Amino acid sequence: MGSITIEGGHRLSGETVVQGAKNSVLPVLAATLLCGGACRIRRCPRLSDVDAAADILRYLGCRADWEDGDLLVDSSVLTRCDIPQTLMRRMRSSVIFLGAILARCGWAELSYPGGCELGPRPIDLHLAALRTLGASIEESGGKLYCQGRHLRGGQIVLAIPSVGATENAILAACGAEGVTVITNAAREPEIADLQDFLCACGAEVRGAGGSVITVEGLKPLHGCVHRVIPDRIVTATYLCAAAACGGDILLRGTDYRHLATVTTALQQAGCRIDCGETDIRLRSEGRLQAVTPVRTAPYPGFPTDCQAVLMAALLRSRGTTVFVENIFESRYRHAAEMQRMGADIRVEGRVAVVCGVERLHAADVFAADLRGGAALVIAALQAEGRSAVHQCRHIQRGYADLAGDLAGLGARVRQNTE
Ligand code: UD1
Repeated sequence: MGSITIEGGHRLSGETVVQGAKNSVLPVLAATLLCGGACRIRRCPRLSDVDAAADILRYLGCRADWEDGDLLVDSSVLTRCDIPQTLMRRMRSSVIFLGAILARCGWAELSYPGGCELGPRPIDLHLAALRTLGASIEESGGKLYCQGRHLRGGQIVLAIPSVGATENAILAACGAEGVTVITNAAREPEIADLQDFLCACGAEVRGAGGSVITVEGLKPLHGCVHRVIPDRIVTATYLCAAAACGGDILLRGTDYRHLATVTTALQQAGCRIDCGETDIRLRSEGRLQAVTPVRTAPYPGFPTDCQAVLMAALLRSRGTTVFVENIFESRYRHAAEMQRMGADIRVEGRVAVVCGVERLHAADVFAADLRGGAALVIAALQAEGRSAVHQCRHIQRGYADLAGDLAGLGARVRQNTE
């Protein structure tokens, strides 16, 4: 299953290049289905979720091959429009293929995406958006049967600015006749990246990054070369690691503009942060100050995906920090594992209260989800002694080489394949 062993107590220094964004590349890979041509995806991170998306593309009849660190996808020929349960379960965001397959084929047959990890993750808004465009969707025996041979543009109003529902709506709208307007759309940078990819293929999508997105459907599409945006969550993870351990690191190939709420919290905690056009430098003395309450919210609010790593950075801070998780119901599973390292965290429902302690001690802990797993590594980097974080398969879904990158920054970290 794999584990990461960590010898805590070392400062971080040096520089590393940040990988491409998982949450961008997955919808972009789904979107390659629409163009019916060859796409080159640059800065494509090598992740197990990307492998799962590539396997879905191959199952559908596309070619998907790595070349010089790029993923080449050729969707000229599509031989089927279903995704079996085994592939759907490998990755939660497999559901984004629904809108793309529907737009390309007029029919899609998918099972529900894999089990729950952060509490319930419904897809009702995805389905409602597709129905607004005229799709008829039947749900039976854990499967979704979607018919949408003549999709028509429409007014999609999302009750919540859901990232996945916004992506599915954009993809389906590309295959719908006429204009679609998506209101209360998610504003995450990854949505803007999806728009950039689609426009490079010849689609007419406008407004991504804001809350109203307009799509003019049925434009003739072609392949393109697209460079995925840097991963803001991975950037935040490395910033939090250096903040917690103390040190001086430079992250290259990233975009500070996507991270304002995180860098502000780290500055408040006592770190010095300097941003260049594509670099972020962080300097930290190691013992941080508690910060004002951290409330997760849709972008541009504080990202739920950064809650765990910031919490890890503040475990030895002076004072008390309150976290309020507003996006997912059970996103504090890392807290119990951190307690095994001596952390003082009280969780009640959506609220977690972290009282900084003097020291953390090493422990064997288990990753229960992707970001929580990375957060345990950050906790272990500060703990006295040798820790192990087990069940690393969760971490590999989103980090191409967490252990290698941290080792390159001077941490004593090793990935084991056990
Ligand atoms: C995406 C990100 C994930 C991030 C999350 C929130 C990807 C691959 N994943 O996930 O990393 O943590 O955004 O920024 O990009 N909801 C419904 N009905 C729906 C859809 C969502 O009620 O049909 C609710 C969810 O339960 C949740 C909230 O909306 O409370 C936000 O979820 P959403 O933005 O859809 O998250 P994901 O797209 O799953």
